[in-house]
Amino acid sequence: MKQFFARLAVLLLAGTLSACAGAEPVNSASEPQTFSSPEASSVSQAEPAAAEGPRILVAYFSATGNTGRIAGILQSELDADLFAIQPQQPYTDEDLNYSNDECRANQEQNDPAARPAITGTPEDPGAYDLVFLGYPIWWGGAPKVVYTFLESCDFGDAVIVPFCTSGSSDIGSSAEDLQPLADKARWQAGQRFSGSASEAEVLDWLEALELPAE
Ligand SMILES: Cc1cc2nc3c(=O)[nH]c(=O)nc-3n(C[C@H](O)[C@H](O)[C@H](O)COP(=O)(O)O)c2cc1C
Repeated sequence: MKQFFARLAVLLLAGTLSACAGAEPVNSASEPQTFSSPEASSVSQAEPAAAEGPRILVAYFSATGNTGRIAGILQSELDADLFAIQPQQPYTDEDLNYSNDECRANQEQNDPAARPAITGTPEDPGAYDLVFLGYPIWWGGAPKVVYTFLESCDFGDAVIVPFCTSGSSDIGSSAEDLQPLADKARWQAGQRFSGSASEAEVLDWLEALELPAE
């Protein structure tokens, strides 16, 4: 983890010296196959960070707990702020029943204009240097509440690192589709985890993460 923080220091220095921007492309999409739906984990709201130095936010949406668990691993490892994106109207099991074409989740994913209301945003989004943004894959994309979230926050030129969980699909174009909603940010290639990814898998990814200006 020392290496990660060393790279982060370089990133922050580069961000201070130049207003460089530009998104890196993410992988191509793949089709949904088998899905899992374990228990939901608890969520929490971001607390203002007291420490000086790099400010890191782990923001995530999780309907059934998988992405929330990964977010918790990242938060704990990085001592970051944690923010749960919460829809004003929570998703019921019926809302998430993707085998029903008319379920709420499917309707939202099929509607380009859908922006489900959320309960709030971090207190000072522009204060973060690095933002990990997590979500489950829904029909190859990010749930529309994540779109609402990004349209409600200004992360400035922060580095955004997307991550997702899914039954089997890769991250595909889900993160690329989000980039126009935070177009000043320095988006990094994202990472997909299975819903049951181990802590070691998450930490290995974190350790190898390539940040800009490295
Ligand atoms: C509406 C809906 C659509 C989904 N679409 C996909 C998909 O396209 N590909 C996939 O692999 N998994 C899909 N899944 C499964 C979820 O991505 C997976 O269970 C994820 O880990 C759930 O994360 P969460 O517990 O944080 O909500 C879908 C689940 C739902 C509810």
